[in-house]
Amino acid sequence: MIARRARAAGIKGRRFSGVMKTRLILAAISLAAPLASAAAAVLPPLVAGCIGCHPASGDSMLPPLAGRDAGAIVAAMDAFRTGGRPATVMDRIAKGFTDNEIAAIAAWYAAQR
Ligand code: HEC
Repeated sequence: MIARRARAAGIKGRRFSGVMKTRLILAAISLAAPLASAAAAVLPPLVAGCIGCHPASGDSMLPPLAGRDAGAIVAAMDAFRTGGRPATVMDRIAKGFTDNEIAAIAAWYAAQR
């Protein structure tokens, strides 16, 4: 992203000085930091185990969980756990969580828009 910005600004490879690079990196960090901490503040630790594959919003290869009914998420997790629903990875993942943990995760996803 930084390299692309530098290119867009007409700064070519070798002439792109170290000072400029440092400034751009600092600018990128100061822009990203508040976003990262805001997301961390509302992201419960349990959900960290899901968010990589099931993002809270945006594109995913999988059916989105965000905004889905909590009961439907719990039911799907139960079906994965008991083998009632075939899965590639979710059967194993679902077995790693207690009922209370799944309920908390499901409530969090249901509250996302
Ligand atoms: C490694 C990636 C990965 C992680 C991590 C992951 N999932 Fe999944 N999830 C999948 C895949 C792939 C499917 C499709 C079923 C399958 O093949 O296992 C799925 C399906 C689901 C479904 C069914 C969705 C639907 O619309 O039918 C639910 C609910 C679900 N996951 C919940 C969770 C929860 C809750 C977590 C965290 C505890 C989690 N997943 C973590 C990959 C993942």
